[in-house]
Amino acid sequence: MRVGKRRKDAGPQRGSTRYRVNLLLGKRRRSVVVLAICSIFSGFTEAGTLALIAQVAATLVSGHKVVHFDHGPIQINATMTTLILVAFGLVLLRILLQFPISILPARIASDVQATMRTNLFDAFTRASWSVQSQDREGQLQETATSQVMSATGGALQATSLITSSFTFLVLLASAVALNPVAAVAVLAATVALFGLLRPLRARGVRSSRGLSKAQVEYAGGIAESIRVAEESQVFGVTGAQRGRIATLAGNAREYYYRTQLLNRLVLNFYQSVIYLLVVGGIAGLVAAGRSHVGSLAAVVLVLLRAGTAGQLVQGAYQGLAQALPFIERTQEAVERYEASAPVYGEQPLPRVDDLKFERVSFAYSADRPVLTDLSFEVSGGEVIGIIGPSGAGKSTIVQLLLQLRKPDRGRYLVNRVPADQFARVDWYRQVAYVPQEPRLLHASVADNIRFFRDVDDDAVQRAAKLARIHDDVIAWADGYETIVGPRADAVSGGQQQRICLARALVARPEVLVLDEPTSALDPQSETLIGESLTALKSELTLFIIAHRMSTLDICDRVMVIVDGRLVAFDTKALLQTQNTYYRHASQLAAGSTTER
Ligand SMILES: Nc1ncnc2c1ncn2[C@@H]1O[C@H](COP(=O)(O)OP(=O)(O)OP(=O)(O)O)[C@@H](O)[C@H]1O
Ligand SMILES: [Mg+2]
Repeated sequence: MRVGKRRKDAGPQRGSTRYRVNLLLGKRRRSVVVLAICSIFSGFTEAGTLALIAQVAATLVSGHKVVHFDHGPIQINATMTTLILVAFGLVLLRILLQFPISILPARIASDVQATMRTNLFDAFTRASWSVQSQDREGQLQETATSQVMSATGGALQATSLITSSFTFLVLLASAVALNPVAAVAVLAATVALFGLLRPLRARGVRSSRGLSKAQVEYAGGIAESIRVAEESQVFGVTGAQRGRIATLAGNAREYYYRTQLLNRLVLNFYQSVIYLLVVGGIAGLVAAGRSHVGSLAAVVLVLLRAGTAGQLVQGAYQGLAQALPFIERTQEAVERYEASAPVYGEQPLPRVDDLKFERVSFAYSADRPVLTDLSFEVSGGEVIGIIGPSGAGKSTIVQLLLQLRKPDRGRYLVNRVPADQFARVDWYRQVAYVPQEPRLLHASVADNIRFFRDVDDDAVQRAAKLARIHDDVIAWADGYETIVGPRADAVSGGQQQRICLARALVARPEVLVLDEPTSALDPQSETLIGESLTALKSELTLFIIAHRMSTLDICDRVMVIVDGRLVAFDTKALLQTQNTYYRHASQLAAGSTTER
């Protein structure tokens, strides 16, 4: 099994501004261009309207009927009615422009959100089991919900940055036409402020990076508390649980406070400075004797609006910067999952004739070998028991058998071909599994047995009968439609195990791997399941991991695993005479049976 390529093309460098903007707006260039054009037009209509309002008001004050506007390149002589009609026209045009200006950001943000969620979950489902199993509890949920939500906020801020930047520039350009000195002063102050506020923005980004991490930890804590809620009640440690969660919540609160504070500080500070500038500008104009009411009011109005647009630019930039840690965390998860995705071959696997481990070794971490130099061969139709002390590596062998993990050294061959060469559809069809801890969906019994596969009702019932759960199910009021699973308490531990066994049997696999399939069953149910499996013997290659020796009754051969090594692999009769661990285990089992 090879590991998937990290990235298909080079693209912009990770961490660069282009890379980040691409993450948010990459495939939506046309929408962005339309948004920019609409913002430019909207800016012009706004500047024009403001200038006209100021001019009309000034003319009204002076008592004239005709407006004389003579400012820089702009010279107008028109009646009040004409100007008011033009102002109306501009306002109407602006109203029309608000449709695309509102629709496009909403569409871009919702697309970004849906795409991020889809990419994240798709990548997760394709990731290797070793990477999936390393995720902290609640991590994917938190990333797919609130982290993506914050990242979507970044997309909204990016569109807001586009609209406010263009509006700002257009208003500023208009202000230049009205009064170049005042406009240049506002531009210079805006640029200077932008630079001055940089350290605050950087702190804001650091805080939101901390917030992103704190939220994942908080979600992890909550998910874990839910899982151990029963034990927490029994051990009377709910108070300690509350304390732990309160600490995690407090940590997130602190980062949230800091990001919000810095955000507000930057914006409010900016706004006040703009007012300061406008007042200063007026003072300058008055001192220079340029106090024509109309032009003065027009300059003030346009500059104030430019100031507000500038504030929006600053706010959007800050918001975008603070959303980046969330975007990057989401993207980092996608890349981590994608990089781990195994690549398999396409060879068909119509049936499984034999399975072979050739000097297989495996470790979860480099410093702690778990399986060492394991070699064995199993023929189709054999029933193999696997026994050994707790922690010996039995479940790890199962994970290798199922190709959930790959050997660090050695080879795993099926029908003499490396197992990863087979097409996945065939592999999934042929190989089934009941895990050590059965896990049900919150769904009907029938859907739990189907488990997302296209299986008809007859097959479901046949599997349920084989797994000896059918009689229990038909005794329930809703039969196969009874909702079971986490937080639905219709089933006992043993019933859960049997439903999971039915799930494994339903597609008539060629290879079935059972990791302690009967640990939660009473001896009678265990015997009945043993009978069912014996009946299937000729159809299946069966691996059964067992702690109870009684589970081994139906096995042809038994592997004894001690400290990650295969110390014996033989028939029960031979093991009884030749293997100490096996003999000791069967003596203990015989003793406990006699006591009962
Ligand atoms: N996901 C994991 N990451 C790191 N180490 C692991 C992981 N799973 C198991 N191990 C370690 O690998 C060793 C073998 O574990 P494994 O689950 O295969 O034992 P086992 O024989 O199935 O034990 P048991 O009978 O208790 O189920 C143990 O030392 C265990 O701590
Ligand atoms: Mg185990």
